[in-house]
Amino acid sequence: MKVLLLGSGGREHAFAWKLSQSSLLDKLYIAPGNAGTESLGENIPLKETDFNGIKSFVLEQNVEMVVVGPEAPLVEGIVDFFLADKSISHIPVIGPDKIGAQLEGSKEFSKKFMEKYRVPTAKYASFTKENLAEGHQFLETLKAPYVLKADGLAAGKGVLILDDLDEAKTELTSMLEGKFGEASSKVVIEEFLKGIELSVFVVTDGTSFRILPEAKDYKRIGEGDTGLNTGGMGAISPVPFADMVFMDKVKNHVVIPTINGLKEEGINYKGFVFIGLMNVKGDPYVIEYNCRMGDPETEVVLPRIKSDLLAILDHVANETLSESDLEVDERVATTVIAVSGGYPESYAKGKAIAGLDKVDANKTIVFHAGTTKKEQEIVTNGGRVLAFTSLGKTTQNALQSSYDALDQVCYEGIYFRKDIGFDLQ
Ligand code: AMP
Ligand code: GLY
Repeated sequence: MKVLLLGSGGREHAFAWKLSQSSLLDKLYIAPGNAGTESLGENIPLKETDFNGIKSFVLEQNVEMVVVGPEAPLVEGIVDFFLADKSISHIPVIGPDKIGAQLEGSKEFSKKFMEKYRVPTAKYASFTKENLAEGHQFLETLKAPYVLKADGLAAGKGVLILDDLDEAKTELTSMLEGKFGEASSKVVIEEFLKGIELSVFVVTDGTSFRILPEAKDYKRIGEGDTGLNTGGMGAISPVPFADMVFMDKVKNHVVIPTINGLKEEGINYKGFVFIGLMNVKGDPYVIEYNCRMGDPETEVVLPRIKSDLLAILDHVANETLSESDLEVDERVATTVIAVSGGYPESYAKGKAIAGLDKVDANKTIVFHAGTTKKEQEIVTNGGRVLAFTSLGKTTQNALQSSYDALDQVCYEGIYFRKDIGFDLQ
Protein backbone atom coordinates (compact mmCIF):
# COMPACT_ATOMS: atom_id res chain seq x y z
CA MET A 1 0.00 0.00 0.00
CA LYS A 2 1.16 3.56 -0.73
CA VAL A 3 0.53 5.82 2.25
CA LEU A 4 0.75 9.58 2.70
CA LEU A 5 1.29 10.72 6.29
CA LEU A 6 0.55 14.38 7.09
CA GLY A 7 2.51 16.30 9.72
CA SER A 8 6.02 17.14 10.81
CA GLY A 9 6.49 16.49 14.53
CA GLY A 10 7.67 13.76 16.87
CA ARG A 11 4.23 12.17 16.64
CA GLU A 12 4.59 11.87 12.87
CA HIS A 13 8.12 10.45 13.13
CA ALA A 14 6.71 7.80 15.50
CA PHE A 15 3.89 7.07 13.02
CA ALA A 16 6.39 6.84 10.16
CA TRP A 17 8.60 4.50 12.22
CA LYS A 18 5.67 2.21 13.04
CA LEU A 19 4.07 2.27 9.57
CA SER A 20 7.41 1.54 7.91
CA GLN A 21 7.53 -1.80 9.80
CA SER A 22 4.32 -2.96 8.14
CA SER A 23 4.40 -5.80 5.64
CA LEU A 24 1.51 -4.05 3.87
CA LEU A 25 3.52 -0.90 3.15
CA ASP A 26 4.98 -0.37 -0.31
CA LYS A 27 5.85 3.29 -0.07
CA LEU A 28 5.55 5.98 2.60
CA TYR A 29 5.36 9.69 1.85
CA ILE A 30 5.44 12.26 4.63
CA ALA A 31 4.23 15.82 4.06
CA PRO A 32 6.07 17.85 5.09
CA GLY A 33 7.97 15.55 7.51
CA ASN A 34 11.26 16.36 9.24
CA ALA A 35 14.90 15.24 9.25
CA GLY A 36 13.90 12.03 11.07
CA THR A 37 11.06 10.92 8.80
CA GLU A 38 13.35 11.28 5.79
CA SER A 39 15.09 7.99 6.58
CA LEU A 40 11.76 6.11 6.64
CA GLY A 41 10.08 7.41 3.52
CA GLU A 42 10.03 10.35 1.16
CA ASN A 43 9.43 13.82 2.55
CA ILE A 44 7.17 15.89 0.31
CA PRO A 45 7.27 19.69 0.59
CA LEU A 46 3.51 20.13 0.95
CA LYS A 47 1.65 21.91 3.74
CA GLU A 48 -0.68 19.56 5.61
CA THR A 49 -3.59 21.97 5.01
CA ASP A 50 -2.93 22.42 1.27
CA PHE A 51 -5.86 20.21 0.23
CA ASN A 52 -5.55 20.88 -3.50
CA GLY A 53 -1.82 20.15 -3.41
CA ILE A 54 -2.52 16.94 -1.47
CA LYS A 55 -5.17 15.92 -4.00
CA SER A 56 -2.80 16.38 -6.96
CA PHE A 57 -0.10 14.45 -5.14
CA VAL A 58 -2.24 11.44 -4.18
CA LEU A 59 -3.57 11.21 -7.75
CA GLU A 60 -0.08 11.47 -9.31
CA GLN A 61 1.43 8.87 -6.99
CA ASN A 62 -1.58 6.55 -6.62
CA VAL A 63 -1.61 6.97 -2.86
CA GLU A 64 -4.02 4.49 -1.26
CA MET A 65 -4.40 5.92 2.24
CA VAL A 66 -3.87 9.28 3.96
CA VAL A 67 -3.01 9.26 7.66
CA VAL A 68 -3.48 12.62 9.37
CA GLY A 69 -1.18 13.47 12.31
CA PRO A 70 -2.21 16.96 13.53
CA GLU A 71 -5.68 18.42 14.09
CA ALA A 72 -5.53 21.35 11.65
CA PRO A 73 -6.33 19.42 8.43
CA LEU A 74 -9.17 17.59 10.22
CA VAL A 75 -10.68 20.73 11.73
CA GLU A 76 -10.42 22.35 8.28
CA GLY A 77 -12.30 19.40 6.75
CA ILE A 78 -9.84 17.20 4.84
CA VAL A 79 -12.12 14.16 5.24
CA ASP A 80 -15.09 16.05 3.77
CA PHE A 81 -12.85 17.44 0.99
CA PHE A 82 -11.87 13.91 -0.09
CA LEU A 83 -15.41 12.53 0.17
CA ALA A 84 -16.86 15.37 -1.90
CA ASP A 85 -14.51 14.82 -4.84
CA LYS A 86 -15.23 11.77 -7.02
CA SER A 87 -11.62 11.48 -8.19
CA ILE A 88 -10.36 10.89 -4.61
CA SER A 89 -13.42 9.84 -2.61
CA HIS A 90 -12.28 6.19 -2.69
CA ILE A 91 -9.03 7.01 -0.85
CA PRO A 92 -9.48 6.61 2.89
CA VAL A 93 -8.35 9.47 5.11
CA ILE A 94 -7.74 8.38 8.70
CA GLY A 95 -9.47 10.93 10.92
CA PRO A 96 -12.95 12.31 11.58
CA ASP A 97 -14.97 14.59 9.33
CA LYS A 98 -15.18 18.31 10.01
CA ILE A 99 -18.07 17.98 12.46
CA GLY A 100 -16.33 15.15 14.33
CA ALA A 101 -13.19 17.29 14.59
CA GLN A 102 -15.28 19.85 16.48
CA LEU A 103 -14.85 17.56 19.48
CA GLU A 104 -11.42 19.20 19.59
CA GLY A 105 -12.13 22.39 17.63
CA SER A 106 -14.89 23.67 19.94
CA LYS A 107 -14.98 23.23 23.71
CA GLU A 108 -18.67 24.09 23.74
CA PHE A 109 -19.44 21.47 21.09
CA SER A 110 -17.58 18.82 23.09
CA LYS A 111 -19.27 19.80 26.37
CA LYS A 112 -22.72 19.64 24.74
CA PHE A 113 -21.85 16.26 23.25
CA MET A 114 -20.75 14.94 26.65
CA GLU A 115 -23.86 16.28 28.31
CA LYS A 116 -26.13 14.68 25.69
CA TYR A 117 -24.43 11.29 25.88
CA ARG A 118 -23.86 11.38 29.64
CA VAL A 119 -20.09 11.22 29.50
CA PRO A 120 -18.77 12.28 32.93
CA THR A 121 -17.21 15.73 32.76
CA ALA A 122 -16.96 18.94 34.82
CA LYS A 123 -20.12 21.05 35.13
CA TYR A 124 -20.00 24.06 32.83
CA ALA A 125 -21.70 27.01 31.21
CA SER A 126 -20.64 29.02 28.17
CA PHE A 127 -20.74 32.75 27.59
CA THR A 128 -20.24 35.37 24.89
CA LYS A 129 -19.85 39.16 25.08
CA GLU A 130 -23.64 39.45 24.99
CA ASN A 131 -24.11 37.68 28.33
CA LEU A 132 -20.90 38.69 30.07
CA ALA A 133 -22.79 39.80 33.20
CA GLU A 134 -24.28 36.31 33.53
CA GLY A 135 -20.77 34.92 33.17
CA HIS A 136 -19.65 37.00 36.15
CA GLN A 137 -22.68 35.79 38.12
CA PHE A 138 -21.93 32.18 37.20
CA LEU A 139 -18.37 32.57 38.47
CA GLU A 140 -19.80 33.71 41.81
CA THR A 141 -21.64 30.41 42.14
CA LEU A 142 -18.41 28.40 41.78
CA LYS A 143 -15.61 27.71 44.21
CA ALA A 144 -11.98 28.56 43.40
CA PRO A 145 -10.00 27.69 41.36
CA TYR A 146 -11.89 28.94 38.32
CA VAL A 147 -11.38 27.28 34.94
CA LEU A 148 -11.88 29.46 31.84
CA LYS A 149 -11.55 27.94 28.38
CA ALA A 150 -11.52 29.64 25.01
CA ASP A 151 -14.08 27.80 22.90
CA GLY A 152 -11.86 27.53 19.80
CA LEU A 153 -8.34 26.35 19.07
CA ALA A 154 -5.80 28.63 20.76
CA ALA A 155 -2.51 26.78 20.21
CA GLY A 156 -2.80 25.04 23.59
CA LYS A 157 -2.89 28.38 25.45
CA GLY A 158 -6.63 28.95 25.72
CA VAL A 159 -7.20 27.53 29.20
CA LEU A 160 -6.77 29.72 32.28
CA ILE A 161 -6.98 28.41 35.85
CA LEU A 162 -7.33 31.20 38.40
CA ASP A 163 -7.48 31.22 42.18
CA ASP A 164 -9.03 34.61 42.62
CA LEU A 165 -12.66 35.48 41.76
CA ASP A 166 -11.93 39.07 40.73
CA GLU A 167 -9.07 37.95 38.54
CA ALA A 168 -11.34 35.33 36.97
CA LYS A 169 -13.94 38.02 36.18
CA THR A 170 -11.28 40.29 34.65
CA GLU A 171 -9.89 37.44 32.55
CA LEU A 172 -13.35 36.42 31.39
CA THR A 173 -13.92 39.96 30.15
CA SER A 174 -10.57 40.13 28.40
CA MET A 175 -11.04 36.71 26.79
CA LEU A 176 -14.44 37.73 25.42
CA GLU A 177 -12.86 40.96 24.17
CA GLY A 178 -10.39 38.97 22.09
CA LYS A 179 -7.46 37.93 24.31
CA PHE A 180 -7.15 34.77 22.18
CA GLY A 181 -8.67 36.30 19.06
CA GLU A 182 -11.73 34.66 17.54
CA ALA A 183 -11.04 31.49 19.60
CA SER A 184 -12.16 33.23 22.80
CA SER A 185 -15.23 35.02 21.43
CA LYS A 186 -17.02 32.29 23.36
CA VAL A 187 -15.73 31.05 26.73
CA VAL A 188 -16.57 27.87 28.59
CA ILE A 189 -16.41 28.18 32.38
CA GLU A 190 -15.97 24.88 34.19
CA GLU A 191 -16.00 23.46 37.64
CA PHE A 192 -12.43 22.60 38.73
CA LEU A 193 -11.68 18.89 38.92
CA LYS A 194 -9.07 17.77 41.43
CA GLY A 195 -7.16 14.65 40.57
CA ILE A 196 -4.40 13.22 38.42
CA GLU A 197 -4.54 13.35 34.63
CA LEU A 198 -3.94 10.74 31.97
CA SER A 199 -4.56 10.36 28.26
CA VAL A 200 -6.52 7.47 26.80
CA PHE A 201 -6.39 6.73 23.08
CA VAL A 202 -9.06 5.01 21.06
CA VAL A 203 -9.10 4.08 17.41
CA THR A 204 -12.51 3.59 15.80
CA ASP A 205 -14.02 2.64 12.45
CA GLY A 206 -17.25 4.38 13.45
CA THR A 207 -18.81 1.34 15.08
CA SER A 208 -16.13 -0.79 16.70
CA PHE A 209 -13.21 0.53 18.67
CA ARG A 210 -9.92 -0.52 20.20
CA ILE A 211 -8.47 1.11 23.29
CA LEU A 212 -4.75 1.68 22.71
CA PRO A 213 -2.19 1.88 25.53
CA GLU A 214 -2.86 4.86 27.80
CA ALA A 215 -0.19 7.43 28.67
CA LYS A 216 0.61 10.32 30.95
CA ASP A 217 2.28 13.42 29.63
CA TYR A 218 4.19 16.18 31.40
CA LYS A 219 3.03 19.51 30.07
CA ARG A 220 4.89 22.08 32.16
CA ILE A 221 8.34 23.34 31.23
CA GLY A 222 9.74 23.11 34.77
CA GLU A 223 10.55 20.20 37.04
CA GLY A 224 7.87 19.28 39.56
CA ASP A 225 5.24 20.38 37.00
CA THR A 226 5.97 24.09 37.35
CA GLY A 227 6.19 27.02 34.95
CA LEU A 228 4.60 27.57 31.57
CA ASN A 229 2.57 25.01 29.67
CA THR A 230 4.27 23.40 26.68
CA GLY A 231 3.19 20.94 24.01
CA GLY A 232 4.57 18.21 26.31
CA MET A 233 7.99 17.55 27.84
CA GLY A 234 7.79 13.78 28.20
CA ALA A 235 5.41 10.85 28.54
CA ILE A 236 5.07 7.44 30.13
CA SER A 237 2.97 4.39 29.25
CA PRO A 238 1.42 2.44 30.91
CA VAL A 239 0.05 4.63 33.72
CA PRO A 240 0.25 2.70 37.01
CA PHE A 241 -3.05 3.98 38.44
CA ALA A 242 -4.91 3.05 35.24
CA ASP A 243 -5.55 -0.46 36.51
CA MET A 244 -8.21 -2.83 35.22
CA VAL A 245 -10.92 -1.43 37.46
CA PHE A 246 -10.23 2.14 36.35
CA MET A 247 -9.90 1.22 32.66
CA ASP A 248 -13.18 -0.70 32.83
CA LYS A 249 -14.86 2.50 34.05
CA VAL A 250 -13.18 4.40 31.23
CA LYS A 251 -14.47 1.89 28.72
CA ASN A 252 -18.03 1.71 30.02
CA HIS A 253 -18.62 5.30 31.14
CA VAL A 254 -16.53 7.19 28.60
CA VAL A 255 -15.48 5.25 25.50
CA ILE A 256 -18.69 3.35 24.73
CA PRO A 257 -20.99 6.39 25.16
CA THR A 258 -18.57 8.48 23.09
CA ILE A 259 -18.45 6.04 20.16
CA ASN A 260 -22.21 5.47 20.33
CA GLY A 261 -22.79 9.22 20.49
CA LEU A 262 -20.68 9.82 17.39
CA LYS A 263 -22.66 7.19 15.56
CA GLU A 264 -25.99 8.55 16.72
CA GLU A 265 -25.02 12.05 15.58
CA GLY A 266 -24.26 10.66 12.12
CA ILE A 267 -20.66 11.78 12.41
CA ASN A 268 -18.23 10.08 10.05
CA TYR A 269 -15.44 9.18 12.45
CA LYS A 270 -12.79 6.74 11.26
CA GLY A 271 -9.71 7.63 13.21
CA PHE A 272 -8.22 8.33 16.61
CA VAL A 273 -9.97 9.79 19.63
CA PHE A 274 -7.64 11.19 22.28
CA ILE A 275 -9.47 11.46 25.59
CA GLY A 276 -7.87 13.67 28.22
CA LEU A 277 -9.11 12.37 31.58
CA MET A 278 -8.92 13.37 35.19
CA ASN A 279 -8.92 10.53 37.71
CA VAL A 280 -11.08 11.99 40.48
CA LYS A 281 -10.96 9.58 43.44
CA GLY A 282 -10.95 6.57 41.12
CA ASP A 283 -13.56 7.85 38.66
CA PRO A 284 -12.72 9.13 35.17
CA TYR A 285 -13.94 12.59 34.08
CA VAL A 286 -13.31 13.89 30.57
CA ILE A 287 -11.31 17.12 30.47
CA GLU A 288 -11.05 17.27 26.70
CA TYR A 289 -11.29 15.33 23.49
CA ASN A 290 -8.79 15.63 20.67
CA CYS A 291 -9.44 14.26 17.22
CA ARG A 292 -5.90 12.92 16.74
CA MET A 293 -3.14 11.20 18.66
CA GLY A 294 -1.18 13.11 21.31
CA ASP A 295 2.33 14.43 21.04
CA PRO A 296 4.50 13.27 22.88
CA GLU A 297 2.12 10.45 23.92
CA THR A 298 2.32 8.82 20.48
CA GLU A 299 6.07 8.39 21.04
CA VAL A 300 5.28 5.98 23.91
CA VAL A 301 1.99 4.51 22.68
CA LEU A 302 3.10 3.26 19.26
CA PRO A 303 6.33 1.59 20.49
CA ARG A 304 4.12 -0.51 22.82
CA ILE A 305 1.90 -1.75 20.00
CA LYS A 306 3.22 -5.02 18.66
CA SER A 307 0.58 -5.47 15.96
CA ASP A 308 0.84 -4.07 12.46
CA LEU A 309 -0.49 -0.49 12.64
CA LEU A 310 -1.17 -0.24 8.92
CA ALA A 311 -3.27 -3.44 9.12
CA ILE A 312 -5.26 -1.82 11.96
CA LEU A 313 -5.77 1.37 9.92
CA ASP A 314 -6.81 -0.68 6.90
CA HIS A 315 -9.47 -2.30 9.10
CA VAL A 316 -10.53 1.19 10.24
CA ALA A 317 -10.95 2.26 6.61
CA ASN A 318 -12.90 -0.91 5.73
CA GLU A 319 -15.06 -0.78 8.88
CA THR A 320 -13.77 -4.18 9.98
CA LEU A 321 -11.88 -3.07 13.07
CA SER A 322 -13.54 -5.76 15.18
CA GLU A 323 -11.52 -8.31 13.20
CA SER A 324 -8.16 -6.67 13.88
CA ASP A 325 -5.41 -7.75 16.27
CA LEU A 326 -4.08 -5.46 18.93
CA GLU A 327 -1.16 -6.95 20.80
CA VAL A 328 0.48 -4.71 23.38
CA ASP A 329 4.02 -4.89 24.77
CA GLU A 330 3.85 -5.24 28.57
CA ARG A 331 7.01 -3.19 29.04
CA VAL A 332 7.08 0.45 30.11
CA ALA A 333 7.81 3.07 27.47
CA THR A 334 9.17 6.48 28.40
CA THR A 335 9.95 9.48 26.30
CA VAL A 336 11.87 12.58 27.30
CA ILE A 337 11.71 15.66 25.08
CA ALA A 338 14.73 17.85 24.40
CA VAL A 339 13.64 21.40 23.63
CA SER A 340 15.27 24.61 22.43
CA GLY A 341 16.46 27.05 25.12
CA GLY A 342 13.73 29.63 25.77
CA TYR A 343 10.83 27.37 24.70
CA PRO A 344 7.81 27.73 25.12
CA GLU A 345 8.62 31.42 24.68
CA SER A 346 10.95 32.65 21.94
CA TYR A 347 13.87 30.42 20.98
CA ALA A 348 16.53 30.14 18.30
CA LYS A 349 16.43 27.73 15.35
CA GLY A 350 19.18 26.31 13.14
CA LYS A 351 21.47 25.00 15.92
CA ALA A 352 23.60 22.03 14.82
CA ILE A 353 22.71 18.78 16.61
CA ALA A 354 25.69 16.58 17.54
CA GLY A 355 25.92 13.03 18.87
CA LEU A 356 22.83 11.39 17.36
CA ASP A 357 25.05 8.61 16.01
CA LYS A 358 26.31 7.87 19.53
CA VAL A 359 22.88 6.85 20.89
CA ASP A 360 22.54 3.10 21.52
CA ALA A 361 19.86 2.26 18.98
CA ASN A 362 19.13 -1.04 20.74
CA LYS A 363 17.96 0.86 23.79
CA THR A 364 16.55 4.16 22.59
CA ILE A 365 14.69 5.44 19.55
CA VAL A 366 15.24 9.11 18.88
CA PHE A 367 12.15 10.57 17.27
CA HIS A 368 12.70 13.92 15.60
CA ALA A 369 10.20 16.69 16.36
CA GLY A 370 11.59 20.08 15.33
CA THR A 371 14.56 19.24 13.11
CA THR A 372 15.55 19.88 9.54
CA LYS A 373 18.54 19.27 7.30
CA LYS A 374 20.85 22.12 6.35
CA GLU A 375 23.55 21.07 3.90
CA GLN A 376 23.66 17.48 5.18
CA GLU A 377 23.73 18.65 8.81
CA ILE A 378 20.76 18.07 11.14
CA VAL A 379 19.77 21.31 12.87
CA THR A 380 17.07 22.42 15.30
CA ASN A 381 13.91 23.75 13.68
CA GLY A 382 11.33 24.08 16.46
CA GLY A 383 10.66 24.37 20.19
CA ARG A 384 10.44 20.67 20.81
CA VAL A 385 13.43 19.17 19.01
CA LEU A 386 13.88 15.46 19.80
CA ALA A 387 12.00 12.74 21.72
CA PHE A 388 14.10 10.04 23.39
CA THR A 389 11.93 6.92 23.71
CA SER A 390 13.01 3.77 25.53
CA LEU A 391 11.35 0.56 26.65
CA GLY A 392 12.19 -1.14 29.94
CA LYS A 393 10.95 -3.66 32.47
CA THR A 394 10.34 -0.80 34.89
CA THR A 395 9.81 2.94 34.53
CA GLN A 396 13.25 3.49 36.07
CA ASN A 397 14.95 1.20 33.54
CA ALA A 398 13.27 2.87 30.61
CA LEU A 399 13.97 6.37 31.92
CA GLN A 400 17.61 5.50 32.55
CA SER A 401 18.01 4.53 28.89
CA SER A 402 16.30 7.74 27.74
CA TYR A 403 18.56 9.87 29.95
CA ASP A 404 21.71 7.92 28.93
CA ALA A 405 20.84 8.67 25.32
CA LEU A 406 20.27 12.35 26.12
CA ASP A 407 23.80 12.48 27.56
CA GLN A 408 25.15 11.68 24.11
CA VAL A 409 23.35 14.44 22.24
CA CYS A 410 23.90 18.16 22.36
CA TYR A 411 23.07 21.41 20.64
CA GLU A 412 23.32 25.00 21.83
CA GLY A 413 20.60 25.73 24.39
CA ILE A 414 19.42 22.12 24.89
CA TYR A 415 17.00 21.71 27.82
CA PHE A 416 15.01 18.75 29.10
CA ARG A 417 13.21 17.83 32.31
CA LYS A 418 15.12 15.40 34.50
CA ASP A 419 12.06 14.34 36.48
CA ILE A 420 9.71 12.75 33.93
CA GLY A 421 7.59 10.21 35.80
CA PHE A 422 8.37 11.78 39.20
CA ASP A 423 4.76 11.52 40.38
CA LEU A 424 4.35 7.86 39.44
CA GLN A 425 7.20 6.32 41.42
P1 AMP B 1 -7.65 21.45 28.03
O1 AMP B 1 -7.11 22.29 26.90
O2 AMP B 1 -9.14 21.46 28.12
O3 AMP B 1 -7.05 20.09 28.03
O4 AMP B 1 -7.08 22.08 29.38
C1 AMP B 1 -5.69 22.26 29.58
C2 AMP B 1 -5.31 21.79 30.96
O5 AMP B 1 -6.01 22.53 31.95
C3 AMP B 1 -5.66 20.34 31.23
O6 AMP B 1 -4.68 19.46 30.78
C4 AMP B 1 -5.79 20.33 32.75
O7 AMP B 1 -4.53 20.24 33.36
C5 AMP B 1 -6.36 21.69 33.04
N1 AMP B 1 -7.82 21.63 33.16
C6 AMP B 1 -8.71 21.78 32.16
N2 AMP B 1 -9.98 21.67 32.62
C7 AMP B 1 -9.89 21.44 33.94
C8 AMP B 1 -10.85 21.24 34.99
N3 AMP B 1 -12.17 21.29 34.76
N4 AMP B 1 -10.39 21.02 36.22
C9 AMP B 1 -9.06 21.01 36.48
N5 AMP B 1 -8.11 21.19 35.56
C10 AMP B 1 -8.51 21.41 34.30
N1 GLY C 1 0.28 16.14 24.61
C1 GLY C 1 -0.94 16.81 24.47
C2 GLY C 1 -1.44 16.94 23.10
O1 GLY C 1 -0.97 16.34 22.16
O2 GLY C 1 -2.39 17.70 22.91
